[in-house]
Amino acid sequence: MNRLTDKVCVITGAAGDIGRDAARLFINEGAKVLLVDRDPKKLDQLVSELATPNAIGIAADVSNEKDVSDFMAAADKRFGGLDVVLANAGIAGPAGKTLEHCTVEEFDHVMSVNVRGVWLAIKHSTPFLRARGGGSIVVTSSIAGLVGAGKAGPYVTSKHALMGLSKTAAVELARDKIRVNTVNPGPVESSMMREIEHGFSPDNADNAKQGILSTIPFGRYVHTDEVAKMMLFLASDDSSFCTGSAYVVDGGLVAI
Ligand SMILES: NC(=O)c1ccc[n+]([C@@H]2O[C@H](COP(=O)([O-])OP(=O)(O)OC[C@H]3O[C@@H](n4cnc5c(N)ncnc54)[C@H](O)[C@@H]3O)[C@@H](O)[C@H]2O)c1
Repeated sequence: MNRLTDKVCVITGAAGDIGRDAARLFINEGAKVLLVDRDPKKLDQLVSELATPNAIGIAADVSNEKDVSDFMAAADKRFGGLDVVLANAGIAGPAGKTLEHCTVEEFDHVMSVNVRGVWLAIKHSTPFLRARGGGSIVVTSSIAGLVGAGKAGPYVTSKHALMGLSKTAAVELARDKIRVNTVNPGPVESSMMREIEHGFSPDNADNAKQGILSTIPFGRYVHTDEVAKMMLFLASDDSSFCTGSAYVVDGGLVAI
């Protein structure tokens, strides 16, 4: 109940399936949370559901530098500092298309949200985290950041890029006692997976799901709360000596 007592956290992609569970868990553990999402309706719904002065929402685009700089400053101003950033916003991009058939616009869009968005979060949170004497940046990558997969090229590329970005940040920021780690979930029971299954098999999305399930030793998708618990570990002081690493939550998928 108190693993994040009085810690100020920014969560991006907060109105999505994983972000919502992380927001609930972080607040239950005592955090003050600034929730960021590009979808103002879903964000308002989450803020009213949480119904606490310890949670506020800001609609913003993580790929826009001014937006990111503004919401980091807003967290500092509203709650008096910044301790944790969960850089979680991400998009699936074109699923079911080979690299040969992706457009430049599709590729660049995925990179701008999934990679530039996380870099901007690191860049603009660093001064505030440093001023607190340290902190934790948790980046949502994926098992798609560790292994290749066909017909999801921009997404796989973006999630691999996050591994290099996070390791670089971990090395550069260690002297400021800012830790940087990735969470790498396997397929999560979520709307994003429904979108991907449909992209892979538009006529029978369940076929695509069964195919994916057959590759997971635990025989099921990860639940959002299981991902959120790993995020909590990395956000909290329980992971005080962990930096520059990948934390996989995948039911054994990449072990095969
Ligand atoms: N769902 C999965 O199976 C899975 C697996 C591994 C990793 N991930 C990663 O987990 C993270 C969260 O995914 P999710 O499953 O909750 O998906 P989701 O689509 O439910 O949530 C993502 C949220 O990010 C927001 N968002 C998208 N672009 C944005 C932008 N430019 N600025 C601000 N907000 C933006 C969306 O509005 C949405 O609310 C993503 O980075 C995703 O790649 C998901």
